[in-house]
Amino acid sequence: CHELDTDIIGKKVISFETIDSTNDYAKQIATNENEGTTIVSEEQTSGRGRLGRHWHSKSHEGIWMSIILKPNIVPYKAPFITLIAGASIAKALNTLGVNTKIKWPNDVIVNGKKICGILTELSAEIERINYVVLGIGINVKTMEFSSEIENIATSLYKEGYNLSRVDVVKAIIKEFETLYFDYIHKNSKLETLKVCRNYSAIIGKKIYILQGEDRELVKCIDINEDGNLIVEKDNGSIKEIVSGEVSIRGE
Ligand code: BTN
Repeated sequence: CHELDTDIIGKKVISFETIDSTNDYAKQIATNENEGTTIVSEEQTSGRGRLGRHWHSKSHEGIWMSIILKPNIVPYKAPFITLIAGASIAKALNTLGVNTKIKWPNDVIVNGKKICGILTELSAEIERINYVVLGIGINVKTMEFSSEIENIATSLYKEGYNLSRVDVVKAIIKEFETLYFDYIHKNSKLETLKVCRNYSAIIGKKIYILQGEDRELVKCIDINEDGNLIVEKDNGSIKEIVSGEVSIRGE
């Protein structure tokens, strides 16, 4: 229904009033769809977050969308797509006037609170990818969050930004297509890494690396060429974090 200024991503949009999860639907149809097909829904009844968590996806309050991708790359290179998505979202929102930061590897934050989560799901064989479903959830209009998350979650509207969801989606998809094609067709990560570093919420800060029940306090130094986190431990040794969850000290 809305014209997108892109070549592939979002050329076909399938929209729902309500659905269980746009990621689940995308996975069901992915094999028969072309790259770029995008699923959006006004509401999700079983929106999913990372680590099996529930994702609050009330009607008309946010952007709940999943993009089907079929990158011709080896499967171990797929996690970088999450960073591309985070970079696109941060870049698009900053261009729309929202002061946005990226909390490596999956979250986009405003004023220290999460407004966006990314859930990338991969179907692959040993050497090749069947498809990737890139799920993006952005709290746009939400005014009230449940008590478990009200200290860590926010929405664009709550932070004082009154943006149309269509404008936000268009801007993100445009940025995403550019950065994604750089990676897939030109093997270039430069712009994504630059954006991830420039808008990083954690570089230079003390953070906790969370692994199950364990947490380790380290200083975040950089994001390296592979998109992994470089941290310094208390004893001065340097460690590379490939994936996982971080929390900023004091937050
Ligand atoms: C997270 O931060 O844990 C990731 C949240 C991802 C939420 C989005 S909303 C659209 C898509 N469909 C889902 O069920 N989840 C993702």
